[in-house]
Amino acid sequence: MKVLVTGGAGFIGSNFVLRIRETRPDWQLTVIDALTYAGNRDSLATVEGDITFVEGSIADAALVDRLVAGTDLVVHFAAESHNDNSLDDPWPFMESNIIGTYCLLEAVRRHDKRIHHISTDEVYGDLELDDPNRFTETTPVNPSSPYSASKASADLLVRAWIRSFGLKATLSNCSNNYGPRQHVEKFIPRQITGILEDVKPKLYGAGANVRDWIHVDDHNDAVVAIIEGGRLGETYLIGADGEQNNSQIIALLLELMGKPADWFEHVNDRPGHDMRYAIDSSKLRAETGWTPKYQDIRAGLTQTIEWYRDNEAWWKGAKAATEKTYERLGR
Ligand code: NAD
Ligand code: TYD
Repeated sequence: MKVLVTGGAGFIGSNFVLRIRETRPDWQLTVIDALTYAGNRDSLATVEGDITFVEGSIADAALVDRLVAGTDLVVHFAAESHNDNSLDDPWPFMESNIIGTYCLLEAVRRHDKRIHHISTDEVYGDLELDDPNRFTETTPVNPSSPYSASKASADLLVRAWIRSFGLKATLSNCSNNYGPRQHVEKFIPRQITGILEDVKPKLYGAGANVRDWIHVDDHNDAVVAIIEGGRLGETYLIGADGEQNNSQIIALLLELMGKPADWFEHVNDRPGHDMRYAIDSSKLRAETGWTPKYQDIRAGLTQTIEWYRDNEAWWKGAKAATEKTYERLGR
């Protein structure tokens, strides 16, 4: 099978490429990635000789058309992915997440191929801390930020192309990922690399916001399970029952990295900050048999801390620039 992976130099896309090279050696992989600030070709260094890499944007309709024509399946990870950046400058989110997805859908339709669209639980808005319900596939979209609105827009385009044109597509909405090779702008790697540089973790607001953490390996195993066992036209929610508030995550990182429990600081909160995300993944589990391998965030975080400790060269360059942006934003 020929597979086009969009955003394959990013955090989750590169993990997908590395895992597929190990588990599905007969899949031929082509990566298209614009190598934005979030793309890092070093993430693919160990497989460079086994894949085709194309530097370019998914919003380049002619390039996308040519690449899709030569593929069987598109696995679509490429996106602007950081909420804080979307609050600072929304335009790249509109271009990559909405126009880029539109270009892919039209190419997939023209050439009668298949696409799996990767999305986020953030499209559903947020839950109250004491809400007994979690997000399901029938929860209405209700995004809060320019990032989540752009992802919800892309999801709606995919669903419309399925209904109107019979597009061969599946969608998945996953909760917050953590693991090796995540950009240092995101919560967990920002704190791990900060602690490694002897800088205190930064907690937005009171730290009560809850995220439903999943290891990136488990996310991508679920994506493969949907590609191989999911039903066309369907949406699947991916989550590992990993709800933790931000204070709990910082406490665990401090413990695992040998720092005192009170060695962190509160910084300004994010405007419009979603309170809680929580996923009910029973449809995915029932239909594909997928279960997460990391049952315990402690084991996953230990592995992740070790990776950042051992791979300083991968993140050091991006760290200073990222902290400069946070300084400007007061976070
Ligand atoms: P990331 O920011 O680490 O990587 C995104 C990649 O896409 C980068 O390599 C970047 O260069 C590339 N890219 C951006 N715009 C592009 C364009 N116009 N054309 C081609 N390439 C482009 O993001 P990530 O965390 O790996 O997220 C990947 C996908 O998973 C996104 O669609 C995101 O919405 C979704 N998702 C992420 C999470 C999470 O916790 N990180 C959770 C659920 C879903
Ligand atoms: P983030 O990794 O940006 O993911 P998302 O906004 O998609 O959930 O943030 C995860 C949570 O951590 C979110 O509630 C915001 C919070 N946060 C901090 O408390 N401190 C930080 O330095 C960052 C980057 C995020």
